Amino acid sequence: MGYTLDDVTRIVLEAKERAHQETGNEPEPEFTSTVEWPIECTVGPGLEGAIACETKIGYVNGKKGWLIYRGYDIFDLCAYSTFEETSFLLLHGRLPSETELDLFCRTLRRRMFIPKTQRSLLSFAVEERNPMDALRLGTNLMRQKQIRPGALNAGITGETVASDEDSIPMETKPTGWKKPVYEFLERLFRPVQDVEPSADAMPDDVESFYNLIAGVAAVSATIGRARQGRMPLEPLPDLGFAGNYLYMLTGRRPSPLEERVMDICLILHADHGMNASTFASMVVASTLSDIYLAIGAGISALSGPLHGGANVEVVNMLEEIGSPEAVPKWYKMAVAEKRKVMGFGHRVYKAYDPRARILAPLAEMLADESPELVSIYATARALETEVVSALGEEKKIFPNVDFYSGIVYRSMGIPADMYTTIFAVARVSGWCARVAEYLEHNRIFRPRAIYTGTFDEQYKPADER
Ligand code: SDX
Repeated sequence: MGYTLDDVTRIVLEAKERAHQETGNEPEPEFTSTVEWPIECTVGPGLEGAIACETKIGYVNGKKGWLIYRGYDIFDLCAYSTFEETSFLLLHGRLPSETELDLFCRTLRRRMFIPKTQRSLLSFAVEERNPMDALRLGTNLMRQKQIRPGALNAGITGETVASDEDSIPMETKPTGWKKPVYEFLERLFRPVQDVEPSADAMPDDVESFYNLIAGVAAVSATIGRARQGRMPLEPLPDLGFAGNYLYMLTGRRPSPLEERVMDICLILHADHGMNASTFASMVVASTLSDIYLAIGAGISALSGPLHGGANVEVVNMLEEIGSPEAVPKWYKMAVAEKRKVMGFGHRVYKAYDPRARILAPLAEMLADESPELVSIYATARALETEVVSALGEEKKIFPNVDFYSGIVYRSMGIPADMYTTIFAVARVSGWCARVAEYLEHNRIFRPRAIYTGTFDEQYKPADER
């Protein structure tokens, strides 16, 4: 059945209707209020329940299964917005005007051009590396001195020795420029004035945030291409962020439906409260380290299978199960082995993850269009029924964002080992927004541990032990 973009919007709004019917609308009072520090909170291992800071960026209602970015319901953003617009919202705290959005989209597209220097560095290191490891490496190579309008031109006026035809300034200018400098700018250098962020822009790092949102996507796509032994691709002028990311990663121009679904996936993965990778980025940034290293820390944390790495594990698990009929036997064995079922459960959600509420029907729509997805989608649905009937009521274990996302990515021809990098491509917006907000009233993160060791041990030389 040929689905249209209107069908996608309808599917998202139907999911919203179901969610609001099942959950009701009152926020959790203990996590939404004005804050008078210091505050009392009950803290469990892994800082469970700890309040790290206050924020206006996003709210996760674990009891109801709600997700809100800057006051906007995630269902509405998926139905009507784009990843670029949502990223601007997360970073700047409001939806952009038409002009601002146009400039922001052009800025991101311009910075998705990977300089040749970077390409050779990346393809050399990427061959056998774990893609998230390569992404962290590529991001750390994206160190960027704060570029002021005019500084770039100054760089081109001969002071900087261009290292190749992209006229990328050398690591350091002959005058010993403090930080290595790589610009992710279009081949034909144009002054950045016309894309200067809006007047009420965030602190100086806004330039780096824009570079990172665009650059991490470009680096991720370059890694995907290098792993297939192919050359990197440059963004196309008539595609948006999601479309260009898909094109640069798969080498194929996406259909309008694929571009729209990827756009929604990126919106869904953009921000999610104080999750491990966001917290990791904020901890590194709170020491006033470099924003690129802070985002590298987020990428490192996200790569674990308990966090962003679960989406790959889910697809491997569904392949292992093989068919819906095999689910009951597989699940019985998993319980006996005390295995955690990948794609289920959540530290905060004790209800259905709203992101899974959107991804499941989108996966169903894509399975309806692609016969090779029918079996894996049916297996996923059967496993969901099995796990939720066993653990839903008792342990509040439901599907999370990672359970259906892999099926969606598979429909687009994306290799499974690249799925977690897609999560990172989206989450860079949330990491940057949270870091920027925290740095406005920075306080280095320094929790404590309860010492349960001994005291008064007497030292003995090695030959007396
Ligand atoms: C993400 O924090 C975020 O917001 C993260 C994220 C984001 O957008 O940034 O939402 C993205 O990371 C989603 C989660 C992806 N990970 C997985 O799908 C891996 C499988 N899930 C589990 O590992 C687990 O559910 C966690 C890690 C997600 C949450 O674990 P918790 O909160 O530490 O829960 P727990 O391990 O203490 O489990 C509580 C109980 C245990 O049973 P008992 O020991 O009390 O008998 O629930 C059980 C667990 O065994 N349980 C599961 C289960 N998850 C929890 N049992 C079977 N399968 C599971 N998946």
